Amino acid sequence: MPRGLFITLEGLDGSGKTTQIKRLAAWMQKRGLDPVIIRQPGGTATGDRIRALLLDSGATPLTPMTEMALMFADRAQAIAEVIEPALASGRVVVCDRFTDSTEAYQGGGRQLGSERVLQWHRLVCGDLQPDLTLLLLPSLESSLARARNRNERTTAQTGQDENRFEREQGEFFRRVWEKYHEIARRDANRVVLIEGNLTIDEVHEQIADAVSERLLAIR
Ligand code: TMP
Repeated sequence: MPRGLFITLEGLDGSGKTTQIKRLAAWMQKRGLDPVIIRQPGGTATGDRIRALLLDSGATPLTPMTEMALMFADRAQAIAEVIEPALASGRVVVCDRFTDSTEAYQGGGRQLGSERVLQWHRLVCGDLQPDLTLLLLPSLESSLARARNRNERTTAQTGQDENRFEREQGEFFRRVWEKYHEIARRDANRVVLIEGNLTIDEVHEQIADAVSERLLAIR
C-alpha cells in the first residue's frame, strides 16, 4: 500500500488556521479523500491533558525547556497513536501545527534556538517530516487582534482559559514571526508561505492549489 500524504498547517495564533483546516477537509471529502485531522498540542487522550497543562494561564509558569519537552511528549504520542498508522495505511493526514511550531515558538519566541529543537525532533520524532507545510502569515497585527478576540469569546462561553500563549508580549510574537520566515526560506521545497491579508476564499484557493499539486505528484 502506498504511503499517505502528511500535510501540516502553521502560523501565528489568529492566522486563520482553524477555518482553513475545515475548508480543506471539506474540499478533500468532495474529492473522495477521507483525511485524518489532528491538532497539536492535543489530538490524543494524553495529548489533550498535556494541552490543558500547557495552555492553562493560571498554572505555575513553565520553563522554556519544560514547555518544549511537553510539546514533544504530546507529539511523540500523536505520531505513535494517530499519524504513523494513518500514513502507513495510505491516508492523508492534516496536522494543525507540528515541529515548525516548536521551532518558531520555543526556538524563536522563547529563544531556545533552532538547533536544540531540531535535535529533539530527530530524537523524539524519528525526524518525521511533513510532505507539505502550509504556513499562514497574515500581518502580525491582524493575527494578534484576532487571537485576542477569539480567546475572550472562548473564555466567556466555556470558562476555559487558553490565554497563556496569547498573553505574551509583542516582542515574543515578533521573534516567532521571524523564525517562521526563516523556516520558510530554509525549507522552501516543503513550505508554502501564504502571506498578506487575503480573504478566507483567497487563502483557501492557494491551499487547494498547493495540495492538488502534491496529490498529483504522488499519484
Ligand atoms: P493553537 O491555538 O493553534 O492550537 O495553538 C496553541 C498554542 O500552542 C499556540 O499559542 C502555539 C503554541 N505552541 C507552541 O508554543 N509550541 C508548539 O510546539 C505547538 C504545537 C504549539
